[in-house]
Amino acid sequence: MQNDDPTRRGFARGLTDYGDRAFSLYLRRSFASAMGYSRDMLDRPIVGIAHSASGFNSCHRHFPELIEAVKRGVLAAGALPIEFPTISLGESFLNPTSLKFRNLMSMDVEEMIRAQPMDSVVLVGGCDKTVPAQLMGAASADIPAIQLVAGPMSTSRHRGERLGACTDCRRFWAQYRAGNVDATEISAVEQRLASTSGTCAVMGTASTMASLAEVLGMMPAGAAAIPAVDADRLRMAEETGRIAVALIGSDRRPNRILTAQAFENAVRVLLALGGSTNAVIHLAAIAGRVGLRIDLARMNALSDSTPVLVDLKPTGGGYMEDLHAAGGIPAVLRELRGLLHLDCLMVTGETLGQRIDATEDWVDRAVVRPIQNAVRKDGGLVALFGNLAPLGAVLKRAAADPALFEREGRAVVFESLADLAARIDDPALEVTPDDFLVLQNAGPASEAAMPEAGYLPIPAKLARAGVKDMVRISDARMSGTAYGTIILHVAPDAASGGTLGLVRNGDRISLSVARRRLELLVDDRELARRRSDAVVRQRPASRGYQQLYDTHILQANEGCDFDFLRFSE
Ligand code: FES
Repeated sequence: MQNDDPTRRGFARGLTDYGDRAFSLYLRRSFASAMGYSRDMLDRPIVGIAHSASGFNSCHRHFPELIEAVKRGVLAAGALPIEFPTISLGESFLNPTSLKFRNLMSMDVEEMIRAQPMDSVVLVGGCDKTVPAQLMGAASADIPAIQLVAGPMSTSRHRGERLGACTDCRRFWAQYRAGNVDATEISAVEQRLASTSGTCAVMGTASTMASLAEVLGMMPAGAAAIPAVDADRLRMAEETGRIAVALIGSDRRPNRILTAQAFENAVRVLLALGGSTNAVIHLAAIAGRVGLRIDLARMNALSDSTPVLVDLKPTGGGYMEDLHAAGGIPAVLRELRGLLHLDCLMVTGETLGQRIDATEDWVDRAVVRPIQNAVRKDGGLVALFGNLAPLGAVLKRAAADPALFEREGRAVVFESLADLAARIDDPALEVTPDDFLVLQNAGPASEAAMPEAGYLPIPAKLARAGVKDMVRISDARMSGTAYGTIILHVAPDAASGGTLGLVRNGDRISLSVARRRLELLVDDRELARRRSDAVVRQRPASRGYQQLYDTHILQANEGCDFDFLRFSE
């Protein structure tokens, strides 16, 4: 934690080291004066605004306007707002996958918060990895911080049908692959899926992480679901600026807010939202920054007693703008009140219980269901364990076909993403709808760096025959907007020697969601033989960030953070 000495706030904070403190301040003020600041402004405490606007991030297109509103709030409350850019991670613009760079962004956020003179910080993010990266960085820097998110996109229309990224992206693409939608129509749909600024319009990863940031207490009540283009989003930005000023000198730092109870609340709400599987990884990474863990066995226990209440795509029918209109996250929290730790501290100063009691008691029951009439009576996610996933795997059961939950199947194995791309649509591929598709070497330790490739396509010949879902198993991730009976995050991953890498074509695999088991039905002696015969893939020599990644990446159950970034006394 940085020095909170009131006489060393604003530009007097964290001086550049020239060996003469007075000279350092004089020099800094000289250069700050080049910005045209008055003496009054130079003497104010500073609210940093860490933002992730970029021409490679369409979800953050409106950030200039949003940042202006934050500044308005900061100035009105008597401090000086100073924005600064950090790395931005535009989900669909990064190769091989945005997750690979989440830790890099978190390091950028942490170090720039620490190195530059600011007394509190507003974190402005939104697209999938940006919010976890900012929370990880802020947790490690541990100065007073508050999150502001982009807000979700608004939906559009195609031939009278409501569309929003990105569950509908996948639905139309599946129809195109099955031959039910032609090239002209898929091109028209492409233009309509993401038609405003803001994050994906459904309960995908961005919406899930925005919701969980609110539940964790890092945002004001109701802030997660306000649409990106709504005037309420600008009012929330202004309010966030004001709160950031109130945080200066307070002890409402991330390490006091991000407690074990707060994370348990976040897991509860994740389950009740039917939220993104990616959130399990991100919560584990954020928790690791404050010396805590997300226990997958505990998540299963919570899942047994947490109903899915929110009826949004990909598990239900609505979009994030509907959740905002229905009462937002406060309405969900009110419904879950009896299951939550109510004394958790919020960044706004009250407890979670006080926050819930203060919110308007109105809800649209079509979107946020009462517990007695839940979308499903147990949680949206479940962790699986067994010899195929000793450290766990995750299934979004709320978006899967229960008819596939208790069964044994024959493995059809793809050794890599390249192998998958080369053979999945081969008419000669030996595959039936009852088989389990297995993808190897797409986990965090692989060259692929754990892309959202776990949503293996249904082989074209089966898709054309009307098959809509199959059991699919991998060490990869899945977009929060996707759906299907898809088992993800298998740990340890194949590239680090996990059992997943020992599966061969024709092996039998047993899945039981009821018993939380995932077993490869191959005896231990044969597995030992395969392990000793396995050819260790030599990774090409790496440099720079790639070398850091190769050397320090942790498995999915530890949030795919770097080992040296986790909390240490
Ligand atoms: Fe940015 Fe989905 S692509 S949130």
